[in-house]
Amino acid sequence: MSEERNTELEAVAELAKRRGFFFQSSGAYGGVSGFFTYGPQGAALKRNLEDAWRDRFVTREGHMEISAPDVMPEPVFEASGHLDGFDDMIIECPECGESHRADHLVEDNSDVEDAEAIPIEEVQELIADLGLVCPACGTELAGEPVEEFNLMFETSIGPGSSQPGYLRPETAQGIFVEFPRLKEYARGQLPFGVAQIGNAYRNEISPRRALVRVREFTQAELEHFIDPEEDEPPIERVADVELPLYSAREQDKDDGELQQLTVEEALDEAVITSPWVAYYLGLATGWYERIGVDMSRFRYRQHLSGERAHYAADCWDAEAELGGDWIEITGFAYRSDYDLSKHGEYSGDDFTIFKQYDEPQTVERATVDPDMSVLGPEFGGAAADVREALQALAERDPDAFDADTVEVDVDGDTYTVDTDVANFSVEEVTQAGEHITPHVVEPSFGVGRLVYTVLTHAYGEDEVAGETRSYLSVPTELAPTFACVAPLVSNDADLVERAEDVLDRLRSAGFEVDYDESGSIGRRYRRQDEVGTPFCVTVDHETLEQEEYDAATVTLRDRDSTEQARVPVGDLVAILSELRAGETTFAELLSDPNVHRVA
Ligand code: GLY
Repeated sequence: MSEERNTELEAVAELAKRRGFFFQSSGAYGGVSGFFTYGPQGAALKRNLEDAWRDRFVTREGHMEISAPDVMPEPVFEASGHLDGFDDMIIECPECGESHRADHLVEDNSDVEDAEAIPIEEVQELIADLGLVCPACGTELAGEPVEEFNLMFETSIGPGSSQPGYLRPETAQGIFVEFPRLKEYARGQLPFGVAQIGNAYRNEISPRRALVRVREFTQAELEHFIDPEEDEPPIERVADVELPLYSAREQDKDDGELQQLTVEEALDEAVITSPWVAYYLGLATGWYERIGVDMSRFRYRQHLSGERAHYAADCWDAEAELGGDWIEITGFAYRSDYDLSKHGEYSGDDFTIFKQYDEPQTVERATVDPDMSVLGPEFGGAAADVREALQALAERDPDAFDADTVEVDVDGDTYTVDTDVANFSVEEVTQAGEHITPHVVEPSFGVGRLVYTVLTHAYGEDEVAGETRSYLSVPTELAPTFACVAPLVSNDADLVERAEDVLDRLRSAGFEVDYDESGSIGRRYRRQDEVGTPFCVTVDHETLEQEEYDAATVTLRDRDSTEQARVPVGDLVAILSELRAGETTFAELLSDPNVHRVA
């Protein structure tokens, strides 16, 4: 980590705590790693960021949004694969008992970039070969076992332990399990998207880097259900968007580098193979710019094959540079039909969509009509299951019925049936359509990481009137407070009364407005710059001198340029509305002949 970047993160961490963006939770009881509370500024910024996400990825795309519970029963995670496969590598110090993420120890102490993708035995060997020691007490870790640690938080639903549940490790499962109902709300038509913004929980072995690796975090996820054979994204909308791409192929080279390609070029050159993933990378690029990610500190990196989650057929991460490290802020995964197939198989509910053909189609269907007067006496209680197994075999492998006998397995037992008794035949049937299991494309955004990125990339220091000022140049849309109203001094009752009136007007017009009358006006401006308030409105003596109420002017100050304009109180709501909507800029306002720049 470069010293400059390190200092930047330290400054942001200090600011975050002092000014109420975020801080470690339960501090009165010593704090607990991996849990953070967003203070008033941070909660407002986070809410604004979520609204900007909702606007871009739900409203403008015409998707649905749901809100599902955080706790889900065990069978959900048996089906999803999280119970078996959602593990990190853990190593425990034999001396002090501290647990560490084994892959992170290797990455932090060698050139290995993605130790998570390395088999567990090799990580154990690397720890020995590199002579790694416990970061807490310095004891050698060679020979200590590296094991899988499941990241889900377990709980019991209701009294007793008969119904285990888990805090969801991703909000996505809350969408997948409701697919049988959600498809009805989509009138049974693909493609459709379902979004959710909510909390997810992972019992991280070593939480670290402030909001980057935490145990409770907010995700904004979109699950887009598609027919992989027919549905295509509206790629023309994003075809010309430039993407900074770091593909798996380039990562595997010694001199691999970032490729700057448009969405169209990336697809033509097969750098990205799924048009749906390419579409979302294109869409998201504009959104990252909108929320203030510094695009010179940004890239898309494809997962290496060993790195992909158990459900993902392909995955690209959007990564932002923070403190000299690349941090995943979004995963764009092609989850294929993995989740819906699993939930269909485990729950027995219908996770398919009926796809109507343009014209009814006549197809051949293999079928059996076993003689139950033979199967019943021969197989007793298993006879009905044997009949089902014969039908499944007929559909899967009709040639098996060419022999004199066929064999089927039911609950681990093998049953042999004479082909004559099975009554196998192939018949022609006319079908109006077929049941298909949709595929899923998933853009999954980490809201806390985005908040941290936006804060860090917006943080700056400069000199104003001979003093160092720190500021957050967050986009107006995200700023926790849109404007601050202040009387020039607080010991003049007329100024205070007029400032309170301006405050009421702005709040009644729906603006998030702060009021500050303590300390010098310069100090108050610094305080607002530091929390990213784009505009300050000051009522001064000139305001009071002007007789007509609405024509009396106040100063309007811009955070980024620190320039000020005198504008009539009666025009303030209209001017601020235009600034908030991005319909005008402060520089344009200053060039308006009716507006006076304050020297
Ligand atoms: N749903 C993707 C993830 O949680 O990483």
